[in-house]
Amino acid sequence: MSDFSWVPLEELRLRSSVKWRAYSPDVIPVWVAEMDVRLATPITERLRRAVELGDTGYAWTAEVGEALGVFAATRWNWIVDSARVMPVADVLTGVGQALIALTEPGDAVVINSPVYPPFFTTVQHVARRELRDVPLVWDGQRYVLDREAMERAFADPSTRAYLMCSPHNPTGRVFDREELRFIASLADRHGVLVVADEIHAPTTYPDRAFVPYLTVSGDAPAVSVISASKAWNLAGLKCAQVVAGSADVRDKLRARVPLEVQHGAGHLGALAAIVAYTEGTSWLDELLEQLQGQSMRLRALMAKQVPQLTFAPPEASFLAWLDCRALELPGDPAAFFLAHGQVALNSGPTFGPGGAGFARLNFATSPEVLDEVVARMASAVASQSAIA
Ligand SMILES: Cc1ncc(COP(=O)(O)O)c(C=O)c1O
Repeated sequence: MSDFSWVPLEELRLRSSVKWRAYSPDVIPVWVAEMDVRLATPITERLRRAVELGDTGYAWTAEVGEALGVFAATRWNWIVDSARVMPVADVLTGVGQALIALTEPGDAVVINSPVYPPFFTTVQHVARRELRDVPLVWDGQRYVLDREAMERAFADPSTRAYLMCSPHNPTGRVFDREELRFIASLADRHGVLVVADEIHAPTTYPDRAFVPYLTVSGDAPAVSVISASKAWNLAGLKCAQVVAGSADVRDKLRARVPLEVQHGAGHLGALAAIVAYTEGTSWLDELLEQLQGQSMRLRALMAKQVPQLTFAPPEASFLAWLDCRALELPGDPAAFFLAHGQVALNSGPTFGPGGAGFARLNFATSPEVLDEVVARMASAVASQSAIA
């Protein structure tokens, strides 16, 4: 048994991260992807020791790749060559820099909306590449790739890269081996680079298998960008890892990614990532059990109190992609629940064209907070129906 625990609301209010400061104290924040957990004890101890020693200089990242390798091999049977790992500050930096280094101006990058909103800005405004959205489709049970549309998009000569998100934010899909093989063969046929954002990979639930993209793509041009930041709640410490799928990609990244970016990881982030990957698995296993429990609790609460709200159970992580369309709200559901329920969600339309009528809810919080969130949302809906 690990020392996992949720943090109570009074204590969460003492936090000063963006989740807890962006809204007034009468609002319950269930938006940005931070979790309301206490850190795993080995991580707290490592960070405490570093702070006590004044060990807060520039990062020594040589061991980060090895630590990732230990975790990846035991968890996913993925043999990571640490010489192909480039630590950077965060996953979006890694994604943006990989696209800049490995594609050319004018190239198009495929994404699958609804998707993590910074994908749009990173492709267009950071990498300055063209965006080609191939929306996921709802098959009645889950979101899946639109294979014909993917074929068409990859066949277009201007398509030079695919920015994949697996596990997928916000839908919670973890692409299975067969889906990844489809992508790999398409990429191979058309010479398209795959940049796989796998930041949520360690949060894949135990009844689902996460397949690292680089275990399927062989020596083809591909990159995985991964981090301990979501699974162990370390986003503010800044350490992600770009893993090159081939020696050629590794050499290009080393030569083309600016040195200040290659030295951009935070020292505390590197220390925390090493401990997370090598000593954090029992805590992680407990977290995953808790998250799956919270996902089911949220479904049960909604079915009882606001049955108009539904979501497909995610296969990883802690984000519910709430279908609010049955409520027939006049505008953005997140704005409605903020104004009438004092609950802060992520706005669905920011995730792309398929996001209208949706909102994203972060359920990585205690059962007590989750109960209060749903009670507030239910009373907001009840008050709206009373007016209508
Ligand atoms: C899919 C995805 N990619 C990237 C990020 C951002 O990661 P980072 O803070 O490491 O840039 C997030 C954050 O929630 C995410 O969900």
